[in-house]
Amino acid sequence: MRSTKQFFVLVLTSLLMLSLAIPAFSAVLDTGFSDVAPDAWYAEAVMYCKEHGLMAGVSDTAFAPEHSLTRAMLVTVLYQMAGSPAVTGTDAFDDTADDAWYSNAVLWASQQKLVSGYSNGLFGVNDPVSRQQMAAILWHFAGSPGAQADDFSDESAISSYAAVAVDWARANNIIDTVSENMFAPKSEATRAQVASALMKYESVQQADPSPNPDLPPAPNPTPNPQPGPAPENSPRILIAYFSATGNTEAVAGHLETLLQADLYKIEAQQPYTADDLNYNDSDSRCAAEHNDPSARPAINGSLEYMEKYDIIFLGYPLWWGEAPRVISTFLESYDFGGKTIVPFCTSASSPIGTSAEPLHSLCADSTVWKDGARFSGSVSASAVADWVNGLHLPQISVNDSTAQ
Ligand SMILES: Cc1cc2nc3c(=O)[nH]c(=O)nc-3n(C[C@H](O)[C@H](O)[C@H](O)COP(=O)(O)O)c2cc1C
Repeated sequence: MRSTKQFFVLVLTSLLMLSLAIPAFSAVLDTGFSDVAPDAWYAEAVMYCKEHGLMAGVSDTAFAPEHSLTRAMLVTVLYQMAGSPAVTGTDAFDDTADDAWYSNAVLWASQQKLVSGYSNGLFGVNDPVSRQQMAAILWHFAGSPGAQADDFSDESAISSYAAVAVDWARANNIIDTVSENMFAPKSEATRAQVASALMKYESVQQADPSPNPDLPPAPNPTPNPQPGPAPENSPRILIAYFSATGNTEAVAGHLETLLQADLYKIEAQQPYTADDLNYNDSDSRCAAEHNDPSARPAINGSLEYMEKYDIIFLGYPLWWGEAPRVISTFLESYDFGGKTIVPFCTSASSPIGTSAEPLHSLCADSTVWKDGARFSGSVSASAVADWVNGLHLPQISVNDSTAQ
């Protein structure tokens, strides 16, 4: 009898413990989304974002962790994190609506200089956010603090505009790597990665609130243990060039290698055919454009984040001693105020001469123009390196051993 009683006590105690344990256990298990397993690496972040109102699911039951997030969505998330402040005015983008769900967020983000859109005037509302764009936007959101971090194995694939941002993200452990020491800057950021970055961003902010009242708190700038300038003080260089037959492109390629800079090919929306390039035909397209100083051939695509660059190496072929008109289109498409432009050209034999001079008036008065140089398409990389070193641009010297 006594042992029967003991048995029941044991069973009852076990049932009681089990009933207490089940709610607690199931609370841990329930992420609220059928596609977010409780043991997924991003489960905690997804739940954090949901609980803090940063990111909802794509439906009541699905989060779509592997899907991308659009640029409009990311700035909307940050706008909400900033408390959805009142905004006035309209944004300058050609592809944003005035009364859409994202309108205030995009306007706020552009006014706060978190985003600048593409150089063709588009914001890219529905474009997926790349990992380096996510880093840059979050970094600006944090107040663009200085940072240094070890290089990723794919560091060279990181665009200049995002270089410090990625360093900052790495130094503060904000964005997960895609694999060991790889950042994959141009891959689309998944919703899971964004959720993780937002959770980590917030934990950094809570640990070290920023005194800047206009922006969310910034993380502690990473101390720079190395003497010498921090990377953000180094000039950011862009090599922009137009090339109809590949000669200027070859020089631009040398510069890209030597300077480890971003390369941008200016492409005419309507490519130049051999007939177009026939300089013996006074009716050819080139001749017509040459004879019309107001001609502005449209450019294909655009360049994002021009404002990040300090120095632009501008390359073009000489056409009748001048830069092709598409270079004028390019110069009128961006604000080069305060930037330094270094022209270079290729030609059959003519020197660069005064070909850059008519271009000066297309840019702001504060644009600094350096004397340019003319090369043949077969110039060696070391000759280009000598020219760069002779320019004595601040903090720029290149080792021509890289050009061997
Ligand atoms: C329409 C036209 C006009 C040109 N005018 C000149 C010129 O005035 N002087 C010169 O030395 N070469 C001239 N060239 C040759 C190009 O400047 C030269 O081939 C250049 O390297 C081409 O560069 P790309 O291959 O990057 O287009 C001209 C070529 C074309 C198509």
